[in-house]
Amino acid sequence: MEYFESLIIDRTKTSIRLRSPAKINLYLRVLDERPDGYHNLENLMQTISFCDEIEIQLTSSGDITVECTDPDVPEDDENIAAKAAKRFFEKTRLENGTSAGIRTGARINIVKRIPMGSGLGGGSSNAGTVLLGLNELFDCPLDRDSLQEIATGLGSDVPFFLFGGLALCLGKGDIVKSIEPSEQYWIVLVNPCIFVSTGKIYEVYKKKCLTLKQKSVNLLQCDSLKRVGDIVSLLHNDLEATVQKEYSELKAIKKDFRLSECNNVMVTGSGSTVFGLCESRAHAARVCFGLRKLLIDRKFLIVEASNLP
Ligand code: C5P
Repeated sequence: MEYFESLIIDRTKTSIRLRSPAKINLYLRVLDERPDGYHNLENLMQTISFCDEIEIQLTSSGDITVECTDPDVPEDDENIAAKAAKRFFEKTRLENGTSAGIRTGARINIVKRIPMGSGLGGGSSNAGTVLLGLNELFDCPLDRDSLQEIATGLGSDVPFFLFGGLALCLGKGDIVKSIEPSEQYWIVLVNPCIFVSTGKIYEVYKKKCLTLKQKSVNLLQCDSLKRVGDIVSLLHNDLEATVQKEYSELKAIKKDFRLSECNNVMVTGSGSTVFGLCESRAHAARVCFGLRKLLIDRKFLIVEASNLP
């Protein structure tokens, strides 16, 4: 539970405050369409230091409430963190028997920094983090398989956020294989404040690209991803061309990265965030400086981060 411990900011008997990290996709290959409409993936993901913050307070009311600093995030049952809490309570009641089960409610406060529809997995991270947080507060009533079952039902990236770090996610994202962390590296993120619908990108991709021959990776390479150079040589995203075609701004951002002396640049997931890998913190700071000068007239989120073990 090393990953989970690294998320804890504060803990009392009845409350916990946690970091809820963003992810980037370092390698994303979309394979065949499944009978459930999803696609099988080869998806190498990494949690990063850019994060939301979540506070969970246990209450005796039996209700689950969510408050979020971002007014665009729903605060009702539709919020994925609320859904995660609801399923947690349902499952613990189920597994512990109706009368002896856990019957308290939860008040969830989210400090939102990770933009929605940005390919950084903010909602999925919130859901996974709430599951881990509640399980901790109740002294681990659910084992990893039960948590994973709930996570899979919430969204295809949620299981990854039970593990964090560097992991290869297969199936629709629900088969998570943790990989030994690589050395620390720095990342610059540029988000153009565009909301991208993942479902729409998959739809367009499916029509145009699924039959084309895709670049394939030797997955055994994943055993030797210790060095940043190994990761750089692996960078690939099947969805990138499709997203760039739909949103030409992303191509322009990649050009701006290159002008700012960062060449290892890619769209994360289905966009809209573009990230660049940097050799050192000083390099990341220089890239940020360059990008801020180039993008001064427009509304962009530019963030420096690093990979989380
Ligand atoms: O699971 P999640 O809600 O994040 O997925 C959003 C959409 O992305 C799905 O409705 C589906 O259209 C697409 N998707 C897919 N195959 C995956 C993951 C997502 O087709 N493995």
